[in-house]
Amino acid sequence: MSVITCVEDLRLLARRRVPRMFYDYADSGSWTEGTYRANEQDFQRILLRQRVAIDVERRNLRSRMLGEDVAMPVALAPTGLTGMQHADGEILAARAAEAFGVPFTLSTMSICSIEDIAAHTRAPFWFQLYVMRDRDFIERLIARAKAARCSALMLTLDLQILGQRHKDLKNGLSAPPKPTLRNLLNLACKPRWVLGMAGTRRRSFGNIVGHASGVDDLSSLSAWTSQQFDPRLSWKDVEWIKRLWDGKLILKGVMDAEDARHAADCGADALVVSNHGGRQLDGAPSSIAALPAIVDAVGSRMEVWMDGGVRSGQDVFKALALGARGTLIGRAFLYGLGALGQAGVTRCLEIIRNELDLTMAFCGLDDVACVDRQALL
Ligand code: GLV
Repeated sequence: MSVITCVEDLRLLARRRVPRMFYDYADSGSWTEGTYRANEQDFQRILLRQRVAIDVERRNLRSRMLGEDVAMPVALAPTGLTGMQHADGEILAARAAEAFGVPFTLSTMSICSIEDIAAHTRAPFWFQLYVMRDRDFIERLIARAKAARCSALMLTLDLQILGQRHKDLKNGLSAPPKPTLRNLLNLACKPRWVLGMAGTRRRSFGNIVGHASGVDDLSSLSAWTSQQFDPRLSWKDVEWIKRLWDGKLILKGVMDAEDARHAADCGADALVVSNHGGRQLDGAPSSIAALPAIVDAVGSRMEVWMDGGVRSGQDVFKALALGARGTLIGRAFLYGLGALGQAGVTRCLEIIRNELDLTMAFCGLDDVACVDRQALL
């Protein structure tokens, strides 16, 4: 691979290095993938207002998300199976985020556990939760996140049922992969990945296996997860979880202004405008298209962030210009992780910071706090 200059370079390298089923898991959307593609395409349509002869020699990208200092208003999103993009992937990504000065969010469906991340980092991290039918399990997860001194809980609301991703079904996705001929042939072409996995014991869902009752091996695990996402989820559950957690609460997966008002009424601290990276309701608008109406509805009551399609600093800039107070990146850092491990996540963050910094300069802005609708055509 020649010099890596953009997130797309990381994606191409990850595609070479990560086993097919895990690369596909990250790089896919549901059904026709129309919403998945729209997330990126709609960013391309937004035009920036170039300005000249304004002093932009000193520029500030530092900001705050939920009162925490951040090197730039970008956090690592919770992504399932991160430890299958690279051995110990969640630990590596959390370390890269900590060194860079941006928040890391651990997914419930991670390979490394809450305790693993706490043991390998010093900065507090955020923990993402799904509402599962097993309420005792939720209570225990919340207690574990508190014991690990997580500084915020991110509750995902858009996964009451799992969207269908054709590739995952065709690939027979599982963690660890089953030793079928097809998988073994594919793994034979991914020696770095196999070597990394041979050197870790973290190869299945670390927050779940051995913690949820009745789940102690791969087959009981897949039966458990397929039944656990709770289609009955209501705002009452959100309030119950808020009381249990009793700390900073982020609600993720809201695409509608009316739902956003409910989220604000619940007293959540931040909201992530998100269509789950186009992995749930195919046919929903892109997140960036949904953002302005939600900012108008609740932006004065809570921090509104967004995710979905952010692959560059220009994308971060456009989201901020449309009123987001922060952005989350998922696939962008996963590509870095799959390509180069921790160094790849760091590279991804550096690329995005550099692009954001130059974009601000070209638009005549010297402080990330000043990026607003005036910066767009
Ligand atoms: C889980 O959050 C997924 O999108 O697979």
